[in-house]
Amino acid sequence: MNAIVDEINWWGTLQDKSFLTDPYPQLKAWRELGAVHHDRASDIYFVLGHKEFAKMARAPQMGRDTSKWRDGWASPEARARNPESYQLFSEIQPQMINVNGADHARMRGVFENAFRPAAIAAMAPMIKAEADRLLEALGDGGEVDLIKCFAAPMPLRVLCNLLDIPAEMDESIRNWSASMIRVLDIMTTQETRHEALVALHEFKAYLTGFLAERRKDPGEGIIAALLAASDAGILNPEETLMNLVSMLIAGHETTVTLIGNGMLSLLRHPDQLARLRADRSLTPLAVEEFLRYEPGGNMILRVATEDFPVGDKVIPAGCMVLGLIGAVNRDPLSFVDPDQLDVGRSPNHHFTFGAGAYTCIGAGLARLEGQIAFDALLDRFPSIELAGEARWRLDRVNARGLENLPVRLGRGG
Ligand code: HEM
Repeated sequence: MNAIVDEINWWGTLQDKSFLTDPYPQLKAWRELGAVHHDRASDIYFVLGHKEFAKMARAPQMGRDTSKWRDGWASPEARARNPESYQLFSEIQPQMINVNGADHARMRGVFENAFRPAAIAAMAPMIKAEADRLLEALGDGGEVDLIKCFAAPMPLRVLCNLLDIPAEMDESIRNWSASMIRVLDIMTTQETRHEALVALHEFKAYLTGFLAERRKDPGEGIIAALLAASDAGILNPEETLMNLVSMLIAGHETTVTLIGNGMLSLLRHPDQLARLRADRSLTPLAVEEFLRYEPGGNMILRVATEDFPVGDKVIPAGCMVLGLIGAVNRDPLSFVDPDQLDVGRSPNHHFTFGAGAYTCIGAGLARLEGQIAFDALLDRFPSIELAGEARWRLDRVNARGLENLPVRLGRGG
């Protein structure tokens, strides 16, 4: 058993095209070998068990500050070896998801009011209007790429409406996000890091001008809260900018994958689609199940600040741990028939939004967007079927989403 575990080519497999197309059989095989693994080659730990992930991700000793990763980008050797990479990660660093403890609470606190349940519920009419506008443009349907015409534009526009960013910026923001999101792949190439740095500089330059403009009349909402925190010295200028960059990336790409991956899952399980059509009170549970079954992110990271025991391993201080969410969400010790899509599944304690102090702040918004998107689609088109091969994006290791989703939409029933 140990010899097999020692021989696993973790990073080769995680980046492999057939794994990226369908990771679940391999994840299951790894999880059956053990809930926690150590990859000697990269000195990174992998957590595949549900119980183990819950313990690890919630522990205060397990933070998200990657500058504490020994031998990581911030080590003196790495800095000397790769100054551009050091610059990229140093610039990305000052934001809530990359800091621990009191700094994390300070930054997250700035946004908490804007994401309270009542504030999110008030966004429903705007989200519904965006969904309806995009579907209206499809007329009576026919063959379309659902990613291009619905799943991709809707979450970006929703978020930009919340931040008052004009529609003419959609394409730039989409491109900047696409370049930057690949930094989350952990094992990235120099070219990817260079592209991310260029995108980050353009993104920051745009948002600097945008914030200067908004300062004249901050209004209410997320940007007003951000500017007030900046003026009060709660956030320094770099933190102000990076938290906003990150919100724009975290808040749109992930929701695109919720809609796209969820719709593909439904189309591949016509019985579940029929069940949802017949009982639309299931939509909130169905959205949870899409999140569990096809999570849009493959890995959730932590860096140990102290030695920390989990499963049959002790994670040494300074080590990186990656929760492999596709395995965690299908752990048979925590889910009945985990490989089955069940739109009525309850309870459903998936970890697609992470856990503990860093649990996704936008989870409520994403859930609401998902529910509105699926309801609007099913309401408008009594017939939705696959019209060709849906292709997974194979250029990203962490973000799991579709390049296209060809569907045939019909209004005739
Ligand atoms: C389906 C959609 C989404 C998914 C799957 C998702 C997933 C995640 C995950 C896995 C984390 C890290 C959790 C951890 O480390 O334990 C996270 C954090 C975060 N997400 Fe989301 N997210 C989604 C939507 C959103 C939206 C709509 C927003 C904002 C508009 C958002 C903003 C954030 C922010 C700011 C953080 C950092 C929280 C912190 O550090 O305390 N996300 N998200």
